[in-house]
Amino acid sequence: MNKKSKKNQFSYDERDIYDPYSVESAGSYDMSGDFYGRRESTDMYDLMPTVQESGGYDEGDEFDPYGMGDIPGFDEEEELRAEEERRLEEERKRKADEEKRKLAARKQKEAERKKQMKKVAEQRRKEKEEEEKHIPGFDEEEELRAEEERRLEEERKRKADEEKRKLAARKQKEAERKKQMKKVAEQRRKEKEEEEKRQQEEEERRKKEEEDKDDPSHIEERLRELSVQYPDVAPPSLVKKCKTLSDNSNTLQVITAGHVDAGKSTLMGHLMLLCSRLSSSERHSLKKLSQAAKDKGKESFVFAWTLDDDEMERDRGVTVDVAHTHFTIPSTMSGLDEDKKDIQDRSVFLRDAPGHRSFVPNLITKAQAPDVGVLVVDSVEQELVAALSAEGQCWEHMLLLRAVGVQRLIVCVNKLDRVDWSEVTYAHVCSTLKKYLKKAGFDVRDESEQVVFIPISGYHGVNLIPESSRARIAETFGSEESKGSEDTDEESSSSAPTLVPPALSSVMPWYDGPSLATLLFNAPIQPRLLEHPFVCVVSDVSKAKFSGKSVMSGRIASGCLVEGEVLVLLPFLRLLRVTAIVDNTCGVGKPVTRCYGGMYVSLSFKPLGASEGFGGGYSEEEIEGMVKSGCVLCRPSQPVRVSNRLTIQVRTTELEHVLLKGERVDMFIHSMWSCDNTCGVGKPVTRCYGGMYVSLSFKPLGASEGFGGGYSEEEIEGMVKSGCVLCRPSQPVRVSNRLTIQVRTTELEHVLLKGERVDMFIHSMWSCGLLKRFVSEMNNKGVVIQKKPRKISSNTNAIVRVQTDDVVPMLPHSIHPLMGRIVLRLNSRTIAIGVITETHDVKI
Ligand code: GTP
Ligand code: MG
Repeated sequence: MNKKSKKNQFSYDERDIYDPYSVESAGSYDMSGDFYGRRESTDMYDLMPTVQESGGYDEGDEFDPYGMGDIPGFDEEEELRAEEERRLEEERKRKADEEKRKLAARKQKEAERKKQMKKVAEQRRKEKEEEEKHIPGFDEEEELRAEEERRLEEERKRKADEEKRKLAARKQKEAERKKQMKKVAEQRRKEKEEEEKRQQEEEERRKKEEEDKDDPSHIEERLRELSVQYPDVAPPSLVKKCKTLSDNSNTLQVITAGHVDAGKSTLMGHLMLLCSRLSSSERHSLKKLSQAAKDKGKESFVFAWTLDDDEMERDRGVTVDVAHTHFTIPSTMSGLDEDKKDIQDRSVFLRDAPGHRSFVPNLITKAQAPDVGVLVVDSVEQELVAALSAEGQCWEHMLLLRAVGVQRLIVCVNKLDRVDWSEVTYAHVCSTLKKYLKKAGFDVRDESEQVVFIPISGYHGVNLIPESSRARIAETFGSEESKGSEDTDEESSSSAPTLVPPALSSVMPWYDGPSLATLLFNAPIQPRLLEHPFVCVVSDVSKAKFSGKSVMSGRIASGCLVEGEVLVLLPFLRLLRVTAIVDNTCGVGKPVTRCYGGMYVSLSFKPLGASEGFGGGYSEEEIEGMVKSGCVLCRPSQPVRVSNRLTIQVRTTELEHVLLKGERVDMFIHSMWSCDNTCGVGKPVTRCYGGMYVSLSFKPLGASEGFGGGYSEEEIEGMVKSGCVLCRPSQPVRVSNRLTIQVRTTELEHVLLKGERVDMFIHSMWSCGLLKRFVSEMNNKGVVIQKKPRKISSNTNAIVRVQTDDVVPMLPHSIHPLMGRIVLRLNSRTIAIGVITETHDVKI
């Protein structure tokens, strides 16, 4: 076998390239195909015959690579067995190889696994190290996941915190709300308590006032208490001192009266200018005033403007409020003989009243006990008739002058220049007026001297001052005026009013009586009643310009007062101390320490404290709020009577109908107006009734108090308009926008047709409306002459169905005459007046 191997080895070397079936080639590959290198020899190779063993290969031989045919003794069975053995051997070999290979593969796999594990362990270690070191760049996904986790964690935390915070806030809010509610409830409780207390106090106060009002004896009783508390009376020395002062002041109190535009203000304004010795600056102011009047087209009112100093009065050319002023009539105008001219000048305290009927209450409340009344009458016939008509103020003013106690009346027949200075007209006016004056209760007989007539022209200044004084003024100013007219300064000269009146002899040669100034100079002054108890009738309360303190103004009806005294305000029973006195009688307010009967004063006061008596303890504002024209100030020890039940002696005037028991009328007692607050001095009352003009304070009911409640004051204020109606819920008026009315048309510009829109005034509510249907036309006796007419013409009586745009509260005329009146207007003209006959329901 070894020989063969050597041979084979040798031969193999030689056939290395040419024998593809060599041992090397046949057995060098195992099943896995791996090459394990050259082998020395195998068993199988040993069995295979080589080329040399089979006898050699020469050219003539058949090719027999295995040399089968050449092996001697080889039989088939042997061959098969060998073959089987070989196969088994090969199988065994293959299996062993397989085993080896598997083992090697397993080992290798194991080595690889270990290597891999080592690698993984190494990696994990590194990762761990990385993780520990927080090295950035760590696995991105992991990082992202971690990041996400962190974010989620944070989010979760944040949400939890948020929840916690919210819960805490909610809890806090709830606690605060509870606290607030508690506070509000507490506040409401307090407010309610306060309100109840206030209401109770108010009720008590009202009751007290009611008692005081209904039972004057109660006030009397309290006044008696007060007089014990303040027993002081005016010392005789004070009366004596005041008497001297009063005599020296020699002040005559004058009031003008007369129909509107009679020339009262012009007359008195001109008289004042003529009586005053005008300085050059005063003349300059007059020129300026004249220019201003000219600029406003009111040149003829220049003298009136000296008294009507309010802008509104000047614009309208009408006196509104009573003007107070003071001037002096020089003794030279007394008309007395030369030897008696050492007497002092006459000081005049003038009140110029308005003539317009709307301002009559101003005259009544402010014209207190004047010494002289100056009634100014326009001499032009139509004006005289208008002034003396039932609607005219001349007649009414005569009555009022009588009522306020005028003992001397000077009747100025004015504007004689407009009737050519006619003596006949003058005589006619005088005789006409005498009848009326007599009716008013004046003694018009010549011998009585209660009423004096004089012819006058206020604007031209005729018969205002005596002729001698006129001549002197003409001497002083005449030359100036003539010089002024020649002056180059045209504006100033033209605007200056002519002060110098024409000579009486040149215009009214037929008159030789006294001038107005002379009559005033010699008019008797009424007794000032200084010895009587102190009584001051308050006409006004206001704030002092500089100090801002409350001041009461009024006329002292009687008595004397010294600064610092305690007075009681009646009928309110309030105690106050007089802290300062200002005399207004002399025109400019002059501070004085004493005052007495006849003076017009402003009294500063300080209410007494609660501890100083039962009338004390009120603030200045409270007292200011209660004072109204007609209140009286007097000493607590000498109070006037306070009552509401009187016996009076009256003389009636021309009445429209007879007076019957139970009738309600307005009563003016000195300067107090009782009955309602129409005159503008709002008097707080606790009851009101038909015919009164009232202001009602109100408080809306709450929502819980009924379906009409729950509105604020502002809301109600916003919805109220003229014509709204207040009534008891149980007795409401009708509310509708569909009415049947009975009207009478006036002179129409065109006939009225169905469907026309007109303005409708129902009581004081103004609404537009539609003439829906003409029901019928009637004659003057109310008999229907045509049913459903197509049109309505002038001066026609008709029944008409109308519809207003707004729902209107009203009542048919048959139920309530005042609530059922209607006026129709079109293009600012009244086209029909009538009454509501029927209302048709409407839902509101
Ligand atoms: P009220 O205070 O509003 O009632 O008027 P009043 O009476 O004070 O009349 P006022 O003095 O305002 O004058 C009214 C108008 O009458 C003015 O235009 C005056 O110029 C005019 N007037 C006054 N007196 C005379 C006069 O003697 N002659 C003429 N022609 N006009 C006069
Ligand atoms: Mg006037």
